[in-house]
Amino acid sequence: MSQNVKNVMAEARKEGRKKLLEHESMALLEAYGIPLAPYFFIKDETEVELAAKKVGFPAVLKVVSPDIVHKSDVGGVIIGISDIAGMKEAVGKIKENVKKNQPDAKIVGFLAQKMLPKGGVEVIVGGIRDPVFDATVMFGLGGIFVEIFRDVSFRIAPITENEALEMINEIKSRKLLEGYRGDTPKDKKAIAEIIVKAGKLLYENKEIKEMDINPVIAYDKGAYAVDARFILSV
Ligand SMILES: Nc1ncnc2c1ncn2[C@@H]1O[C@H](COP(=O)(O)OP(=O)(O)O)[C@@H](O)[C@H]1O
Ligand SMILES: [Mg+2]
Repeated sequence: MSQNVKNVMAEARKEGRKKLLEHESMALLEAYGIPLAPYFFIKDETEVELAAKKVGFPAVLKVVSPDIVHKSDVGGVIIGISDIAGMKEAVGKIKENVKKNQPDAKIVGFLAQKMLPKGGVEVIVGGIRDPVFDATVMFGLGGIFVEIFRDVSFRIAPITENEALEMINEIKSRKLLEGYRGDTPKDKKAIAEIIVKAGKLLYENKEIKEMDINPVIAYDKGAYAVDARFILSV
């Protein structure tokens, strides 16, 4: 286990938190070699210049809070930020939104992220610790495909790249990854590599109870995680 992973887990335990913070989740993915949108954690608007230097524009700003599960549901995600003034404004706007929609939530800071280009397909790599099968990984397409159609596939970790490709090819909505209506086919190998690495992450870190990498944005070349939620059991 890398030092980074140990530090993240120790910090959460020390603070008695079951949910990892956004930048902690990103650090975990990074430690397992999962490609990410560049990110930088800031505590408030005084650090916006630094964040801009680290991630560039266009950027996305997200609330970081131990109490918020679905950030966009409370107005905690602002995309399409094009300059420093816009990022400062986004800090204020997110604070306002959270105050209105979830007044008791504690804001510990903000995650600035490079905004990935349009033209990708959003997929989900999830995971649970099953009492019988232990680390179990789920794959599906983002949005309605998982939430309404339950069009998902499962494998028990550790997962080989071939098994990961099977998971991708098993779902009905895979056609959306294969060049639907003139769209370019998406990089299944890159998605499969993320599934394998996420499986390893869940398999090796027994204190993780739930994992939800949602979304991973898949392009014709490459796939990148932009959001992840980890729930610990201790
Ligand atoms: N870095 C990014 N680049 C492009 N789109 C993004 C990025 N981050 C988030 N999004 C979009 O915003 C949505 C919500 O952001 P996300 O971080 O997943 O928050 P949450 O799931 O907590 O609401 C994502 O599903 C994606 O469509
Ligand atoms: Mg998300």
